[in-house]
Amino acid sequence: MNHFELINRLYKEQILSKEDFIRLIEHRTAEDAEYLASLARKEAQKIYGTGVFPRGLIEFTNYCKNDCLYCGIRRSNPNVSRYRLTEEQILSACESGYELGYRSFVLQGGEDPYFHDERMVSIVSAMRKSYPDCAITLSLGERSPESYQALFEAGANRYLLRHETATEEHYQKLHPEAMSLARRKQCLWDLKKAGFHVGTGFMVGAPGQTAAHLAEDLLFIKELNPKMVGIGPFIPHHDTPFKDEPSGTADLTTYMISILRLMNHHLLLPSTTALGTIDPNGREKGILAGANVVMPNLSPIDVRKDYALYDNKICTGDEAAECVGCLGRRMESIGYHLEFSRGDYREYL
Ligand code: 5AD
Ligand code: FES
Repeated sequence: MNHFELINRLYKEQILSKEDFIRLIEHRTAEDAEYLASLARKEAQKIYGTGVFPRGLIEFTNYCKNDCLYCGIRRSNPNVSRYRLTEEQILSACESGYELGYRSFVLQGGEDPYFHDERMVSIVSAMRKSYPDCAITLSLGERSPESYQALFEAGANRYLLRHETATEEHYQKLHPEAMSLARRKQCLWDLKKAGFHVGTGFMVGAPGQTAAHLAEDLLFIKELNPKMVGIGPFIPHHDTPFKDEPSGTADLTTYMISILRLMNHHLLLPSTTALGTIDPNGREKGILAGANVVMPNLSPIDVRKDYALYDNKICTGDEAAECVGCLGRRMESIGYHLEFSRGDYREYL
């Protein structure tokens, strides 16, 4: 079976075997990528039109108790200037976001014990009270089932937790011994059970990653059936053990975006900041490969450079005061537009 036939099968059946995914990834050509992207774009447009949902990202703490080997804000990096936003600062970021048109907020942070359940419930409840018409997404890492339940009951709707890699040995290479893939997966199931719309994802081109690992990621995602999948290229951070590892590529990232779109036409699929960092037109390329979400930075300007998971992150300088204007123009340059709504998952056409 040639590659176009494989792609047609994926399009029709929304799944392939592990071996076929490996073939499609390992031996991909520019023609395969263009064909995949054209199908992916068409399906995304059938459901979501040419609207791209913006989510205002608030990076509210860069303290983290974890020590993931790839991440710039890992516990053992002493060169990070650590910060936490107060509840007031978070609400004020939401307020300016709301005025700019955002109806969807993402609170993301390192795993910071300071933000225990009581504190997070207070923040989420305050956001829910002030912005009853907005979607609230959390991205706070691994917590207990009770914690997830309490956060959902406080009014959060969605939760992002990337599985990072669905292959045990690869997970161990990327993380300290104290962390486990089994626990990560359990958290994702717990989040679903608590009622969240769940997002997961992985890095493309992470150190040691093979096509077989990517195929496992796709199969795990099929099993989990999340509403969102965030993927971006791995980019080295100079203060981590992976500082000399090569970055992932925009080509493979957009290729994986197209495959994910064909696996679930309804998926909420961001064109990520990391993709915009390795390629100046990365976010536009992601949308043209079938993505339909962007996550502009809404954090206060003075802390943005301190939330550096990888080097050279875009949108951390003064020019990024209003990413939303910049992204709006970028989307229009490719025939799309920002759609300011909650941006819910659409079950039906
Ligand atoms: N390069 C790219 N992405 C990274 N992340 C963390 N570190 C890096 C890096 N060096 C991603 C992880 C995490 C998300 C918040 O950012 O996948 O889940
Ligand atoms: Fe942030 Fe362009 S999106 S500056």
